[in-house]
Amino acid sequence: MIEPTPLTRAIVRLPVVDSTQRVAFALAEAGASDRTVVVAETQTAGRGRRGRLWRDEPGTSVLTSIVVRPRLAVADLPKLSLATAVAVAEALDTVGGIVARLKWPNDVVVRGRKVAGILLESRLTAEPIVVVGIGLNLNQTEFPADLATTATSVRLETGRRAERETALNELLTAFDRWRATLETRGFAAVRARWLELADTIGREVRVGSRAGVAVDLDRDGALVLRDSVDAIHHVVAGELTRGRPH
Ligand code: BTN
Repeated sequence: MIEPTPLTRAIVRLPVVDSTQRVAFALAEAGASDRTVVVAETQTAGRGRRGRLWRDEPGTSVLTSIVVRPRLAVADLPKLSLATAVAVAEALDTVGGIVARLKWPNDVVVRGRKVAGILLESRLTAEPIVVVGIGLNLNQTEFPADLATTATSVRLETGRRAERETALNELLTAFDRWRATLETRGFAAVRARWLELADTIGREVRVGSRAGVAVDLDRDGALVLRDSVDAIHHVVAGELTRGRPH
């Protein structure tokens, strides 16, 4: 395991913002350094994956975006979101003793319910900028009706209030660690840990028009499915629907 040297970092704290992603990109484009972090109490237009809205109840979540000036080839950037999922799961263990699992590509779930979402966005200019957004459900005691059976929070899982600053620090520390692992050792170490934490492997799943049993994560981060006639498919992107264990 690589322990990065602790470095100071800029943390921009905002009470209300449309999206910490937007602010992080604006700061990065104005020259903000690698590892700059934006944190908000609440977002009015939080961005989720696949164009969805990420809703929050003010003050209950960690809502953060990290500016990354990657030391990775552009083709390898999606692997950073898998590394982030590993980091979030490990931070949850440290913060609350929570055994979180990973749903491909990068949802973090507890007992099958989503506790954190990750959004990686990039601007592929001459010097690419990546912003890694993490929404971690911390102290919610209930969710809106449409999320009630699919979402959970640290508080719901442990029965205890979680301290937001502690959770943020643990998240950022774990993110630095797994980012450094990816950038210096390559994807193999991330892949091995992702597989240890995976909720998806061994399940019947559907991703878009593909259905089958998830059997592996390949060396590029694609999900490997075996279909009903034993054909193997490598799925690069998409929304996964989980079925029962095989
Ligand atoms: C997902 O859809 O699972 C990803 C959700 C990512 C939400 C976080 S909250 C902090 C950051 N700012 C945003 O607007 N989105 C991300």
